[in-house]
Amino acid sequence: MSWEEIEEGDANIIVPEQDESKEGPKKVRDEVFYNPSMKMNRDICISFLNSLSYRKDLNVLDGMAGTGVRGLRVFKETPISNVTINDVSIDSISSIKKNVKKNSLTGQINITQASVEKHIIENRYKYDYIDIDPFGTPVPYYPLAARYVSHKGFVGITATDTSVLCGTYPKTCLRRYSALPRNNWCRHENGLRILIGYCVKEAARHDRWVEPLLSYYEGHHFRTYLKIGEGAEKADSCIEKLEKVIFQDYWWEQDDLKCEKKPSGPFWTGKLHSEDVLSDMDEVGELDKKILSFWKEEIGKPPFFYETNEISSFLKKAPPPLKTIIRGLRSKGYKVSKTHFSPTGIKTDAPREKVEEIFLKI
Ligand SMILES: C[S@@+](CC[C@H](N)C(=O)[O-])C[C@H]1O[C@@H](n2cnc3c(N)ncnc32)[C@H](O)[C@@H]1O
Repeated sequence: MSWEEIEEGDANIIVPEQDESKEGPKKVRDEVFYNPSMKMNRDICISFLNSLSYRKDLNVLDGMAGTGVRGLRVFKETPISNVTINDVSIDSISSIKKNVKKNSLTGQINITQASVEKHIIENRYKYDYIDIDPFGTPVPYYPLAARYVSHKGFVGITATDTSVLCGTYPKTCLRRYSALPRNNWCRHENGLRILIGYCVKEAARHDRWVEPLLSYYEGHHFRTYLKIGEGAEKADSCIEKLEKVIFQDYWWEQDDLKCEKKPSGPFWTGKLHSEDVLSDMDEVGELDKKILSFWKEEIGKPPFFYETNEISSFLKKAPPPLKTIIRGLRSKGYKVSKTHFSPTGIKTDAPREKVEEIFLKI
């Protein structure tokens, strides 16, 4: 394997040589894994942890670390100094050791080689933040993190099995997440809400509640940051926010208008983000204001969204500019915003007929 030296954030690391002509990681699973296109995922992680700076004493586990870049960046770019970097692979551990040394942090960062499942079980309630960043689904790992993160601790999880969560493989989704996905215009929000719903159910098994602090879809993955604590009653309230939904999915079959009748889900119907966390991230100032403002605008809006292109093709009318739709709905007293899930989507509490009216007026 040939290696190259790169900088990411404040970390200077050696990674498997990248093939510039390809997007995503070049290396296969049994080699050391580094994906440059996940830099934004790690930038957001740093900003999220900096927004918790009132908890400088956080004990952090980078549980599936690859080259260790995330854990190294946490140590260097946040006030947190209790960092453990873990991976199951011997090759990863040897690259993590090199990278920790390269950043002159030998002895300051704890390095362990174990399956993250075993590590969490052997270190129950020790960690206040656990990062789960697997290949594909987090389902084999998340339950232990949810059960054994410290009370009112945090878990950051990535899911890259987006096609499963978004409805291309409904049977797999039912098996993994006990939910029926819906592959419609809203598929990315549906997938994220299935993932969070699953996280809520798993935590509730152990009388633990979950509060999503920041959740998003970006470039082929989902990511959610959850606060998790003990309390059966609060866990019950979380479960109450899981709902099955019948989408207003319409399509034409010859001249007949068909409508979806089967419920999908269950979906998490509560908040995706915490206003306080996003404001603190904004204050920290590390992330692009534009992305933060998309997430901020979504707060207080109902789950799911309307896709203007879908309404346009259903009505066989060109879509009015997004601004016109937003202004029109606001003038009627509805809440409305753009959404990070789709550049042509809108979130609103207006019924679909009211959105259609604006299309029909133009
Ligand atoms: C997607 S990569 C992690 C990338 C890394 N977090 C980053 O930000 O660059 C997944 C990693 O999980 C490791 N892994 C796979 N199964 C594991 C397990 N059961 N316990 C711990 N690590 C595991 C792999 O060796 C691989 O390094």
